[in-house]
Amino acid sequence: MPLKILFCASEATPFAKTGGLADVAASLPEALSAQGCDVRLFLPLYPSVERNTQTIKVVAEWIPIPVGVHTYHVHFWQWLGPSSYPVYFMEKDEFFHRPHLYVHPLRGDYEDNAERFITFSRSIYALCKHLDWIPDILHLHDWQAACGAAYQHFHWRYDAAFSRVRTLLTIHNLAHQGLFPEAYFGLTGLPSQAYSIEGMEFFGQCNFLKAGIAYSDRISTVSPRYAREILEPKQGFGLDGLLRRRQDALIGILNGIDTTRWNPSQDPHIPAFFDAENLSGKGVCKEKVLKALGFPEAVRQSPLCVVVSRLVHQKGIDLILDALDDMMELSVCLAVLGTGDPHLERLLLQAQSRHSDRVRVVLAFDEALAHRLEAGADIFLMPSRYEPCGLNQMYSMRYGTIPIVAATGGLDDSVEDAVQNPEKGNGFKFYEHTKEAFLGALKAALEAYRDSEKWRRLQQRAMREDFSWDRAARTYIALYEAMLVG
Ligand code: ADP
Ligand code: GLC
Repeated sequence: MPLKILFCASEATPFAKTGGLADVAASLPEALSAQGCDVRLFLPLYPSVERNTQTIKVVAEWIPIPVGVHTYHVHFWQWLGPSSYPVYFMEKDEFFHRPHLYVHPLRGDYEDNAERFITFSRSIYALCKHLDWIPDILHLHDWQAACGAAYQHFHWRYDAAFSRVRTLLTIHNLAHQGLFPEAYFGLTGLPSQAYSIEGMEFFGQCNFLKAGIAYSDRISTVSPRYAREILEPKQGFGLDGLLRRRQDALIGILNGIDTTRWNPSQDPHIPAFFDAENLSGKGVCKEKVLKALGFPEAVRQSPLCVVVSRLVHQKGIDLILDALDDMMELSVCLAVLGTGDPHLERLLLQAQSRHSDRVRVVLAFDEALAHRLEAGADIFLMPSRYEPCGLNQMYSMRYGTIPIVAATGGLDDSVEDAVQNPEKGNGFKFYEHTKEAFLGALKAALEAYRDSEKWRRLQQRAMREDFSWDRAARTYIALYEAMLVG
């Protein structure tokens, strides 16, 4: 019998995406399914998924889901388009038919996020019952699905069919916890003992991620180093104490990447293909992207540094802004693609006006441009303050774009510093989160760049790294198996 795993997440490509969770929630199931698992994915239905009879069908209607004093009725849909595993959606338009996933661009977090994701989490059980398909493992991702672990612990396991179901919570980013006022606890329908210091109570508030950490059988996070970092107060965001208590249940597994979607030898988004043996197409990609972004002819021979990121404190964008004038002295070009904090967006636009020949800022979420930048750039900048895993440094390496990263979390686990290890290096790291350390790494990278033979070897080493999901999928399978016997 194949292992049965239900992935529950709030986003997954190509259906809905704000960040790396979407990439992982789509491509890890693919790798698990290639290794023989019966894996299925469950998502909320957003307007980004077109309800066209060719690609999606309703499989259950008017399913009652209790949330506080209300009973909401939801519909389940199944994806019929191309996919290597079944994908189901929960439709509740009142909650999910909105242009943004979690946040209103002007008003901040949606006020009903608690109700939205309680409804989603409580639907997990109803979906399985409806499908008459009970998973061995409920694999819950981030706070939006984390309450599923509490429901299994307090409710669902008393149904004989669910008694052997085990729960795994994957934390993609401990900073996002789903924190709500105490009064919202009533919406969960959990017994009062769940609102305790051992449970989901957190300094007088209701913490959904904490419920997941407290009640799931196992906890994973997306790199080994991040799994160690979150045990310390600095990166623990107030949950390090509980995580230390649950340390035996915690494991760090480095994410992989989708090496089909991110493949410079067949990427439909880029103007010329290339690979580690023949990098000439990369020159074409650089030329085209520089031109498309309107960099003047005179600077197009300069090294091109890029950033593709959510523009938030975590990502250290302010460090780049601080270092910008010095970077310009080094004669690099900089292209930034991102959206996020309006203050950072404004500062980036100001930087663009100050250095109009060498800086371009595109404030958009643009998948195709992200691919074109990865393909056309020389250097990728990721000065994150913390980074649970990070995917862009791996996408970059695959496209022969050398990453400069802060030595933290998954960045530290996936990048080998070419200064410390010239024979094996595939990128550059800096070890203190300061402008000086960042500029030091950039200077080291530019020195290597000027030696075209050395740079080529560095690019080839980076491109030949194996970041495919196979290894991680094997580790997840071993973990699922251990959970079922343990
Ligand atoms: P995080 O999930 O913390 O944002 P990751 O590095 O894990 O960071 O993943 C970010 C993902 O989102 C990558 O696939 C990246 O290419 C994508 N991304 C981020 N910002 C943009 C953007 N503005 N346009 C297109 N893709 C973006
Ligand atoms: C989160 C993290 C990022 C990670 C991604 C996928 O968004 O911030 O580091 O790569 O999840 O696991």
